[in-house]
Amino acid sequence: MSSSYSRKAIILAGGKGKRLAPITSVISKQLIPIYDKPMIYYPLSTVMLCGIKDILIIVSPQNESLFKSLLGNGEDWGVELSYKVQERPEGVAQSLIIAEGFIGDNSILLALGDNLFHGNELIDLLLSANERQTGSTVFAYPVRDPEKYGVVEFDEFGTVKRIEEKPEKPMSKYVVPGLYFYDNSAIDRVKKLTFSQRGELEITSLNQGYLDDGMLNVEIMGRGMTWLDMGTIDSLHEASAYIKTLECRQGLKIGSPEEVAWRR
Ligand code: TTP
Repeated sequence: MSSSYSRKAIILAGGKGKRLAPITSVISKQLIPIYDKPMIYYPLSTVMLCGIKDILIIVSPQNESLFKSLLGNGEDWGVELSYKVQERPEGVAQSLIIAEGFIGDNSILLALGDNLFHGNELIDLLLSANERQTGSTVFAYPVRDPEKYGVVEFDEFGTVKRIEEKPEKPMSKYVVPGLYFYDNSAIDRVKKLTFSQRGELEITSLNQGYLDDGMLNVEIMGRGMTWLDMGTIDSLHEASAYIKTLECRQGLKIGSPEEVAWRR
């Protein structure tokens, strides 16, 4: 079964998970439950909402079999799941090199395996980003602690000037969440990047490269949207509480691949 979509998705589920130690010394972060389902169900549902059917999950060597037992080949959900190992956590952008054979000539949606998106703008944002075949689309979301992320700097007209990774003095409160749309040139662009001081191929450098070439589209995610990065003990707890509150109140599931498959 091969998909007719011209965009393929990568979900990045490797990494060190140091901030969740000691849990992550024995289990992958993206398998930890967020209320009633494993963390990876949330980014998986997000890429499925976009209508993408060919999905590559990148995992660390010790966790490959666990992800395969949990998710299988995706047949039950009408998607095609495949897996690749990242030998060492050498950066989010490295995933594009690992995925080169899987991507072929297609465009790319890269989703971080520990990011949760929810809100009524989400489907429209995804579908319009998916339609843009050239360049890159990323999002900008306001947070209280921008210094932990890639921060978007705007000029006085609201045009994006720069994206800076974990700056000491953030120039705005808008940061780039872990959901990136790229055209196929992303793979060659990453190959030209050099490792940063922390030994990673940085996704912010890739995004800045698109910006320098006038090919980066930054969409604001408004206050009607929830974005949670589930990488810390507190944010695990917050994300679980958020999902529990909404699911119990509404009797509807959030981040359920079964439901997205059924709806689509
Ligand atoms: P991070 O949260 O930046 O890193 P981490 O998961 O290793 O956690 P910590 O900082 O606590 O050590 O990673 C964001 C997402 O990308 C997460 O789902 C893990 C994934 N990732 C990889 O798969 N490979 C990598 O090389 C990196 C850096 C991250």
